[in-house]
Amino acid sequence: MTIAHRCVALGLLVLLSACQRQQSPSASASETRAFANVDDARLAGAESNADDWLSHGRTYSEQRFSPLAEINAKNVGQLELAWFHDLDTNRGQEATPIIVDGVMYTTTAWSKVVALDAASGKHLWTYDPKVPGATAIKACCDVVNRGVAVYRGKVYVGTLDGRLIALDAATGKPVWSVETTDPQASYTITGAPRVVKGKVIIGNGGADTYQVRGYVSAYDAETGKLAWRFYTVPGDPAKGPDGAASDKVLAEKALPTWFGKWYEFGGGGTAWDSIVYDQELDQLYVGTGNGLPWNRRIRSEGKGDNLFLCSIIALKPDTGEYLWHYQVNPGETWDYNANQTITLTDLVLDGQKRKVLMQAPKNGFFYVIDRENGKLLSAKNFVAVNWATGIDLATGRPQETPEARYEKAIFVAQPGGAGAHNWHPMAYSPAAGLAYIPAQELPLAYRDDPAFAARPKTLNTGIDFSLLGVPDDPAQRAAIAKMLTGRLIAWNPVTQQEAWHVDHAGPWNGGVLATAGDLVFQGTADKQLQAYRASNGERLWNYDVQTGTVGGPVSYRAGGEQYIAVMAGYGGAVPLALPALKPAFAAPNGRVLAFKIKGGAKLPAYTPVPLPPAMPTAEQWPQQRIDEGRGLYSNYCSRCHGASLLSSGILPDLRRSPMAGHPESFTKVVLEGALEPRGMISFAGSLTAEQVESIRAYVISSARLLQAQEAAQKQ
Ligand code: HEC
Repeated sequence: MTIAHRCVALGLLVLLSACQRQQSPSASASETRAFANVDDARLAGAESNADDWLSHGRTYSEQRFSPLAEINAKNVGQLELAWFHDLDTNRGQEATPIIVDGVMYTTTAWSKVVALDAASGKHLWTYDPKVPGATAIKACCDVVNRGVAVYRGKVYVGTLDGRLIALDAATGKPVWSVETTDPQASYTITGAPRVVKGKVIIGNGGADTYQVRGYVSAYDAETGKLAWRFYTVPGDPAKGPDGAASDKVLAEKALPTWFGKWYEFGGGGTAWDSIVYDQELDQLYVGTGNGLPWNRRIRSEGKGDNLFLCSIIALKPDTGEYLWHYQVNPGETWDYNANQTITLTDLVLDGQKRKVLMQAPKNGFFYVIDRENGKLLSAKNFVAVNWATGIDLATGRPQETPEARYEKAIFVAQPGGAGAHNWHPMAYSPAAGLAYIPAQELPLAYRDDPAFAARPKTLNTGIDFSLLGVPDDPAQRAAIAKMLTGRLIAWNPVTQQEAWHVDHAGPWNGGVLATAGDLVFQGTADKQLQAYRASNGERLWNYDVQTGTVGGPVSYRAGGEQYIAVMAGYGGAVPLALPALKPAFAAPNGRVLAFKIKGGAKLPAYTPVPLPPAMPTAEQWPQQRIDEGRGLYSNYCSRCHGASLLSSGILPDLRRSPMAGHPESFTKVVLEGALEPRGMISFAGSLTAEQVESIRAYVISSARLLQAQEAAQKQ
């Protein structure tokens, strides 16, 4: 296979692209506790409060740097499990836990909220927002949630079906709930809310699916009343202004950069992850995502910058008024996002102290931006990049490779839409002066889809993935698997150079925590939680957490001792959609794990459970039918069950499903929604019975191949 061919094969893979202690920490009677006793002063002073983890990135600067150093490079070898809490699902765990006065508040899949005693792991309460199972189809990338915000006795969560809910922090009972999105549209919420000066700020996602226009909203933290809303892209000009904080800037700056009928698709530009408050400058920074559809030819007649897609927008937190923006990818057409971690610090650049924000977005460049005015100070690629040769400092625009827009031919882009760095939180250690990027290399082949029509219940990218797939030959699959890489990169933002990196077994590893103990912690796809020396990357500690880990670890002090905690549970876009190229086992349920020096606890023994064998029937179909099924599977099923039918073991591998051989059961599930409460929707109205049978034909014929391969391996 030539490199080009391999990369085309890879194309399919990459379909997708948030002081004082109120009491002694050992206080045992829970009724003496003040739950979520966090006010503006405490949030503003979070930097000097080493014990708690009060907001998503610990402090407003979102550095994910803990000043605690009791656990350090000298004694990390004695770090042991202190406690664990089992979760009720094997779906992805992306949350960053929040810790206040010895209580941990976190979220799990399906937007459930859990409160635990941070010293003992004792379960305090769970809140289940009862997200309808059918919502799963709106989520491009699993039924995940990235955590809560806390303020004045309340815990705030955004739910997959678009609600913002305030809970009583002591009991987990809802206080208020608001719909932040139109339930009829394909919006989801997976990102953590942020609390700024008495307002809860929440974004949304869905710009890979169907008719979604991005925006960010601010609600009164006490009452849930909408304070302001900022749309990130213009709506249908015929409908006039929205009556929103964004009206003026959209009309003046954004609208002239859009062409065609983007509003019929929604346009995208969702704020699905990073929203950061700059307390020094009293500015809110919102990272926005890709266009909907991805392909600019379809979205905007192939022209225009399409503001404010793929941008960092600075807003006034009190009113949502526009201040400035920096667009990372003008006219984005690759599912490149600027939603990734936005980290605030001061750097001395050319002898001058600058207030900067840093971001390592999907497109592979590390950006240092002046947060006083949004001007680009420097940008350098941290992985191999082929869509641009650099970023022009004078204009702040990328120097694009002409073919990269795949207007005339297929272009295999590095990075692909899954990003050189996705949502997995990046950390920054002011002590080491290094940013720690959970990076990966996952190229994607882009080909224009001339026959594109927006359809519900599918991803609407405008990219033709139909001829792409992974080869059946196990040796070729192993060769492709080797090319998909992941690594932890320590990056010097002043010199824009790598300080060190560590290679991982594959892509889609966990978020990062840096500590004053000269340590960096990261979980990996291959089930390890690891500690590295922050200065040079030497691996100092490793723990088998028994499941892939994607969330960002945190550190806090409870009962007078330092803990490291992480949510373990594999999932998200890549584990669901990327074909599992290595032998897959059934993914176990997720857990919350907390570690301390000489913790003394142990996980129960775990033996990986192999997936059931393929049991194909002898049914036969013409090849044309099987090929039709392959195309339909790729459009409608692969983003959850795995491209080329290669499930990673989180959701069923259909080749191994007993239902595949029973047309009636298959139809009950696929067209009648028998498993809808569990996230397997009915495709009635999108697929006919005949089409479902074609999918079954593809599944059975692939099951036969699998059976033969597994038999050959046994010999
Ligand atoms: C949005 C994600 C999603 C999509 C898209 C999706 N599924 Fe599913 N599917 C699921 C989930 C989740 C389950 C497991 C439900 C459970 O836990 O029982 C499932 C289970 C199934 C099962 C039952 C398997 C078994 O052995 O229990 C079949 C059959 C199935 N899906 C077929 C399909 C087909 C065919 C398509 C495409 C037309 C499809 N699915 C698309 C999420 C999805």
